[in-house]
Amino acid sequence: MRQLLVTGGAGFIGSNFVRYWLAHHADDRLVVLDALTYAGNLESLSGLESLANYQFIHGDICDAELLEEILPENDIDTIVHFAAESHVDRSILGPEAFIRTNVQGTFTLLEAARKAWVNARRGQRLVHVSTDEVFGSLERHEPPFTETSRYRPNSPYAASKAAADHLVRAYFHTYGLPVLTTNCSNNYGPYQFPEKLIPLTIINALENKPIPVYGDGCNVRDWLHVEDHCRGIEAVLAAGEKGQTYSIGASNERENLDIVQQICNCLDGMLPSKRPRRDLITFVTDRPGHDRRYAIDASRMRNELGWHPTYAFADGLEQTVRWYLAHRRWWERVRRGDYRHYYAQQYGVSEA
Ligand code: NAD
Ligand code: TYD
Repeated sequence: MRQLLVTGGAGFIGSNFVRYWLAHHADDRLVVLDALTYAGNLESLSGLESLANYQFIHGDICDAELLEEILPENDIDTIVHFAAESHVDRSILGPEAFIRTNVQGTFTLLEAARKAWVNARRGQRLVHVSTDEVFGSLERHEPPFTETSRYRPNSPYAASKAAADHLVRAYFHTYGLPVLTTNCSNNYGPYQFPEKLIPLTIINALENKPIPVYGDGCNVRDWLHVEDHCRGIEAVLAAGEKGQTYSIGASNERENLDIVQQICNCLDGMLPSKRPRRDLITFVTDRPGHDRRYAIDASRMRNELGWHPTYAFADGLEQTVRWYLAHRRWWERVRRGDYRHYYAQQYGVSEA
């Protein structure tokens, strides 16, 4: 029986992980720590409150005192660290919050774990959830990223995650802290905040609003269903080697424009409209420093841990579109307030 601390459990991947874990490991106890920033949403965890083995704590990973209380009090032996500022465009508009949470926050968590686990005798483990963006951008002909790819972060977001990865590595080598790092490709699925490409496209298409595509739309991302990512983290927790890193991805490279068109076609099939929704696609000014291509080679995950993705992309995307159709209240609420302001600033439209 494990006692887990999940940081950032009210965000997109965190909330999917919490649901997945409680459904598959009913004997474990799970504590979520989340600061409930604009991206954190308690509604993504609704229905879990009544479970005796689940607890939510509203708090910040930069709060050392709080962490030093939570870890021993709950006898935490497993930490899954999702909490982060996660959106590249926001990191370009305002990088400071990324340095604070992703670098300082990860450092604070590592220090708290080091203190709590002085004698790491019970198989304690901390999984640091990172991204393929730390490796920079690939040319079309280059092979996908692996665990040995060079760190070449290009956005403030990627640089802050790279810094966190380095701290995690150093805590293993210097203090023997039982850490593992995962570098995952782009996730999609239920509960993703509408600022990211796939939910933004679904929602704008539903509302008959322009669908903004940066640059020429030919940037490539390697898409993984969030549930497959959760299963990957589960495999790393169960059998990963301490101090190692694991690249997670589904070898599912797509150009942005293809994704957007696929979503439009999918919605046209489900909810016919007068004009095809692809007419809403609008090419807008490119993101500064926009990485051209990400791709992951997940051979280590497959060969050493026996993990493999289960979702075919077309099925996963259709399921995701259906989820947003069925959860209008969820996304209508999360995009109130700060999001309207951000959207106006990012896309140069009025807030009304
Ligand atoms: P998200 O932005 O949806 O959620 C982040 C969560 O962290 C939110 O609930 C937020 O309230 C919380 N948080 C932020 N600052 C905090 C702080 N100081 N203290 C406590 N909680 C705080 O992000 P996501 O897409 O779910 O990503 C989760 C993790 O996975 C991140 O570390 C991200 O770098 C990584 N990742 C994401 C993707 C992706 O495609 N989304 C891919 C690979 C890796
Ligand atoms: P995003 O979902 O922000 O993830 P990331 O930048 O971490 O890969 O973006 C995915 C791709 O979609 C990326 O190449 C940028 C592009 N994009 C658009 O073309 N338009 C948009 O409005 C957004 C948010 C992203």
